[in-house]
Amino acid sequence: GAERAAEIRALIRDVPDYPHPPVVFRDITPLLADGPALGDVVEAFAGLVDADGGVDVVAGMEARGFLLGAPLATRLGVGFLPLRKAGKLPPPVERVSYDLEYGSAAIELRTGTLEAGARVLLVDDVLATGGTARAAAELVERSGGQVVALAFLLELAGLGGRDRLTGRAVEALLRVES
Ligand code: PRP
Ligand code: MG
Repeated sequence: GAERAAEIRALIRDVPDYPHPPVVFRDITPLLADGPALGDVVEAFAGLVDADGGVDVVAGMEARGFLLGAPLATRLGVGFLPLRKAGKLPPPVERVSYDLEYGSAAIELRTGTLEAGARVLLVDDVLATGGTARAAAELVERSGGQVVALAFLLELAGLGGRDRLTGRAVEALLRVES
């Protein structure tokens, strides 16, 4: 319920001006450290899956998407696929680059990892500008997978991330303006 959502929200620590102004860093480590809260978050993610159809694999974006995606995969009884930051995987890899506020980044998936048509649930902690999530969705799609939905713990609605993910199902357990 709304009360539990507020408790979960209180376990995400807002750190102003980190790593630099005006960014507010969202620290999920207090939530990860709280067993019942982590369990409730995984259950809530699992509850989205029925609404969005079946899932063959959960994929998470390095690094914080790993922390929520792997327990969710276990809960759903499916495998987990790590989408890695550039340079971590041996070749051959598929790579999708995306822009950051300063500079750019890229994520990679080993070529041939996904079965053609695999139904993939993408999971991450925060949806901000949507750059990471869009790159992740493109990486999965380019690799032959089908993005069933993108699920986030926290959506920063004012940053317009959802607008960069048009045509895909986007779910957020918690939503704040900025
Ligand atoms: C953070 C967060 C999301 C992303 C959201 O990851 O975990 O993945 O930023 O921002 P966006 O919507 O503007 O792309 P970050 O790259 O900071 O690193 P981490 O997950 O490895 O800690
Ligand atoms: Mg991240």
